Amino acid sequence: MNLKGKTIILGVCGGIAAYKAVELTRLLKKDGADVWVVMTRNAREFVAPLTFQTLSGNPVYSEMFLPPPAPPYKGGERGDMPHIDIAKKCNLLLIAPATANIIGKFAGGIADDLLSTLYLSVTSPVLIAPAMNNNMYANPVVKDNIKRLKGFNINFIDVGVGELACGDEGEGRLAEPDTILSRVRELLFNPPNPPFSKGVEGGLKGKTILVTAGPTHEAIDPVRFISNHSSGKTGYAVASAAQRRGGKVILISGPTNLAPPSGVKFIPVKSADDMRREVLRESENADVIVMAAAVSDFSPVSYSDKKIKKEERESITLELKKTPDILEEIQSSKLKAQSSKLIVGFALETEDIVKNAKEKLKNKHLDFIIANSVNSFGSDSNKVAIIDKKGNVEDIPLMPKDSIAEIILDKVAQILKKD
Ligand code: CTP
Repeated sequence: MNLKGKTIILGVCGGIAAYKAVELTRLLKKDGADVWVVMTRNAREFVAPLTFQTLSGNPVYSEMFLPPPAPPYKGGERGDMPHIDIAKKCNLLLIAPATANIIGKFAGGIADDLLSTLYLSVTSPVLIAPAMNNNMYANPVVKDNIKRLKGFNINFIDVGVGELACGDEGEGRLAEPDTILSRVRELLFNPPNPPFSKGVEGGLKGKTILVTAGPTHEAIDPVRFISNHSSGKTGYAVASAAQRRGGKVILISGPTNLAPPSGVKFIPVKSADDMRREVLRESENADVIVMAAAVSDFSPVSYSDKKIKKEERESITLELKKTPDILEEIQSSKLKAQSSKLIVGFALETEDIVKNAKEKLKNKHLDFIIANSVNSFGSDSNKVAIIDKKGNVEDIPLMPKDSIAEIILDKVAQILKKD
């Protein structure tokens, strides 16, 4: 399948990486897309509009208002309004490169030029490929703006790491054009996040879905804790997708850097113990439980309420005790109550992934389990396998965690329909 019949608005901002948008335009066209380039005024300082016009075969826009047609007027003429006209036919708004400035404008709802106004008027998915200096990318305001936009289901492509145009080394390079093309194809053919989706196949209306996400922190003393590398992205993606499908969503999350999806009941927790307490309380009314959290299996036997000092110590031994298995507890209360709650678990493994996941599925009496390897930590994509009660293994190829969330919920909706 190629991009024939798809209209893509490519927003190009003012950064040196604008030259890569030229190659990107060529790749999108070659794949069959109808490409309309919108350049910010600063982008025109880096690449001439004629380059994009020639490659895309369409006029290049920068200004909000174009003059009305020449007189004599017959009445009813209006100047072209590209932010409305092209927005209507857009299947995807792609911003590459996206500067800190445009990300800030999108996050703040500022519409003071064509591209920022278009962003507010499109109803298609939006994909943003940032590119900027590493210090700008690390700036908390920029990070916060990206987090906010992700909370609105805006898709991002991770920046690359390496030498930057300014001579600095670090995070901030625009992703390569072929990487961007494959994300575009993924989004258009398997859209995980239509920003204003009116509900998708496999609705969850009337159902309460409890999702856990993120790591837990097991405190050692007031400054230290034991934890793991879980980012919480998969759990948050499941919560957000379940909410879009009309479900009532409760998200219980350990500490993460993610913004909770709007509209969900959000319960932040720290330790495995906190998570256990909240999950057991909220699970009573849940129809579906998706246990995506990477709950710590061990916590310190004792907590020191004063900072443990290093003086006169060459080493230290920390005694740990096992934390209660939350899923097992939910199962026993489910059995007691003879409820038909649907319970989904995750298995995080470094080896024998499917074999170990099958064992967890059986021991924890789950409806199905998602097996994944530690390689996915922090990344936006993952390669998982879904294993059901009968032992069927469905291998899911590498794809964004948002898309994996949709696949998980399709399966949930399928099982609920049968029951
Ligand atoms: N889980 C849980 N309570 C715990 C630990 C894990 O409910 N104390 C849940 C996780 O949320 C996940 C599933 O159990 O859905 C499997 O977690 P995982 O860390 O892969 O396995 P464990 O059961 O902890 O076993 P091990 O760490 O030995 O692999």
